[in-house]
Amino acid sequence: MKTEVCSIFEINKEAEIIIDRAATIIKNGGLVVFPTETVYGLGADATNSEAANKIYKAKSRPSDNPLIIHIDTPNMAEKYAYTTDEYYKLASLFMPGPLTLILKARDTVPIQTRGGLDTVAVRCPSNKIAQELIKRSGVPIAAPSANLSGSPSPTAAKYVIDDMMGRVDMIIDGGSSDFGLESTILSLVSDTPTLLRPGKITYEEISKALGYEVNIASAVTKCLNDGEIALSPGMKYRHYAPKAPVVLLDGDINDAILYIKKENSSKPAIIAYSSDAKIISNELANIVVYDFGNKDNPEEQAHLLFSLLREADKYDYSVIYAPLPKTDGLGLAIYNRMIRAAAHKIIRL
Ligand code: TXA
Ligand code: MG
Repeated sequence: MKTEVCSIFEINKEAEIIIDRAATIIKNGGLVVFPTETVYGLGADATNSEAANKIYKAKSRPSDNPLIIHIDTPNMAEKYAYTTDEYYKLASLFMPGPLTLILKARDTVPIQTRGGLDTVAVRCPSNKIAQELIKRSGVPIAAPSANLSGSPSPTAAKYVIDDMMGRVDMIIDGGSSDFGLESTILSLVSDTPTLLRPGKITYEEISKALGYEVNIASAVTKCLNDGEIALSPGMKYRHYAPKAPVVLLDGDINDAILYIKKENSSKPAIIAYSSDAKIISNELANIVVYDFGNKDNPEEQAHLLFSLLREADKYDYSVIYAPLPKTDGLGLAIYNRMIRAAAHKIIRL
């Protein structure tokens, strides 16, 4: 398949022509990669089962792993899901924005889009290109992250091109993703709302908005036991993992340096906070260090994480060491992606 790549820097007349062309592709059952404020999405008409099937194929994604449907206003959910008071409470505060809510589905959403479930994930992105594309398509857009299944979600068009060239009809380059990690997912179909994937909208913000503490699915922070069922099908799949094993070091930087020296791996790389990177380069001069930003700035870390994993993946490191993040606020989203990239390998120093 021939893939057209177009760049949009701002919404102007030229951009509108590109978005109209993309909308026509969506309406005709084709695939368009578009930017959102979290990561790039691989979009198709959510109401067209054939188009949904094309998404699974392009990503090499198992078809029991459901797709999020993207809408341009919170009210648009009415047609595709049974909304609740909690839905509108959260929508009024956090939509448009990086929050996905799981609701009971109406049968206007084909079973393929829902991965066989009776629920549907709904998200209203704030990115202007995404908004315009949904509006001009006139349908909800089903869109998983635009990576091949198993690799980190793309936060820039160059990573989309690495994974999706020849697999989609069009890629819209809208620059680097604002946030850099996928949306927060909250299920509203369980008795108490349950956080299935942490993101920019935090556990603390959601609990405050609802006036009580929501649950956190065990897969957010822990490895699932054999036979344990993931509330979100995507959680059972390996994710974000570069080819080299990732090992998380929980402790002081000096202890980490001692550990890395002792292990004496053949070709290690280190992901380190800026302040630690300087100490490491003094002590371990021959090891490549990837700068993970300011230790106290989780926004910066979220923005960098997936591109660091992709850049590191270009070399055959024997191991990639990284710090274990904190679990409060935005930290939980970073922690969740890191433990999955590391397949839960954590060394307590
Ligand atoms: O930020 C995002 O959410 C990005 C952008 C493109 O919007 N999309 C994204 O989609 O991350 P995806 O498919 O890569 O991740 C969605 C996750 C998957 O783990 C999937 O299993 C889960 O959401 N999910 C989708 N529908 C669900 C449902 N009805 N119940 C439970 N989990 C669901
Ligand atoms: Mg994904």
